[in-house]
Amino acid sequence: MKALVLAGGMGTRLRPLTHAMPKQLVPVVNKPVLFHGLEQIARAGVTEAAVIVGDWHREIREAVGDGSLFGLEITWIQQEAPFGLAHCVLLAREFLADDDFVMYLGDNVFSDGIADLADAFRRTRPDAQVAVVRVPNPEEYGIVEAGPDGRVTALREKPRAPRGNLAVAGAYFFSPLVHDAVARIEPSLRGEWEITDAIQLMVAEGRDVRAAEITGWWRDTGRIDDILDCNRLLLDRLETAVAGTVDEASTVLGAVVVEPGARVVRSHLRGPLVIGAGSVVEDSYIGPHTSIGADCVLTDAGLSHTIVLDRATVTDVNGIHGSVIGRSARVGISPPGDGRHRLVVGDHTELRVLA
Ligand code: TTP
Repeated sequence: MKALVLAGGMGTRLRPLTHAMPKQLVPVVNKPVLFHGLEQIARAGVTEAAVIVGDWHREIREAVGDGSLFGLEITWIQQEAPFGLAHCVLLAREFLADDDFVMYLGDNVFSDGIADLADAFRRTRPDAQVAVVRVPNPEEYGIVEAGPDGRVTALREKPRAPRGNLAVAGAYFFSPLVHDAVARIEPSLRGEWEITDAIQLMVAEGRDVRAAEITGWWRDTGRIDDILDCNRLLLDRLETAVAGTVDEASTVLGAVVVEPGARVVRSHLRGPLVIGAGSVVEDSYIGPHTSIGADCVLTDAGLSHTIVLDRATVTDVNGIHGSVIGRSARVGISPPGDGRHRLVVGDHTELRVLA
């Protein structure tokens, strides 16, 4: 089985971060979200993967390298513009040849990986298999209708009157029969070649399309709150590992990772949290579900449920919660007596200060 990993797209919902980096490289627990996916693909026994990239191809290629980090042999495929998930299958036709493959959305994370799903596909070998998960708000997802045997009878995108609550998660398993369907669909109203249309065509023509329910959780990290949530869920299974230094005046509770070269001085750490390599945390409180990147400086700061990217600094500000602070960003207070806020805020940034 090969893998087709989708790492193009615009990432508009993740602005302003995606003005400066592709969404697949946004870190969760100090690792690009795409790396979590590539690891899970390798664990499913896949060794050959093609990665679809768009405008951010240089950054993604540089981060992923030749794939040996993950045990994957990687082929890069350039997509001119995000013309849809099925368009990615069209572009990869030559790479995929007549092999089975898993199509994996590069900004998705499955808590239990995709090895069980891949095994189920290999074992039962239907024409296609979509990973599904039960959701409380089916109107917001692609929804699968399936019989008790798991055979898919219909697939609807964000249905107004949903039948069932099985949402499509970001891992699709295909036999080479999908190419015939993909070649025959037309772009949708939003101008994209939709994979749901191709699957729907397979269903309509009597192909054996199966729904495989995942165990554990699944997150699509398309929006800031989803990234924070994914970070929280991954941190919840963190194990303590302190390679950097924590001085005796500091207190530590819960699972904590302090990466090499990081220093914690007179601070309170309430895990689960991770402090990246070379970062310095002084006279600060770092609360649960926080990931601090590399070479950050936090002084007299208080943060929880937050992601801080590399080289950012936070000085004298407490009560930061549910926040994402970009690379080399500086958060601090105005000089005493100034009485005013100073904001240098990038495009599409969200800022909320206390009333
Ligand atoms: P989306 O979540 O639709 O990605 P997007 O970047 O278009 O998001 P936004 O709405 O915020 O602009 O796609 C899921 C994944 O598939 C994501 O990793 C991007 C990738 N993708 C491609 O590689 N090519 C495409 O044509 C599309 C639509 C998505």
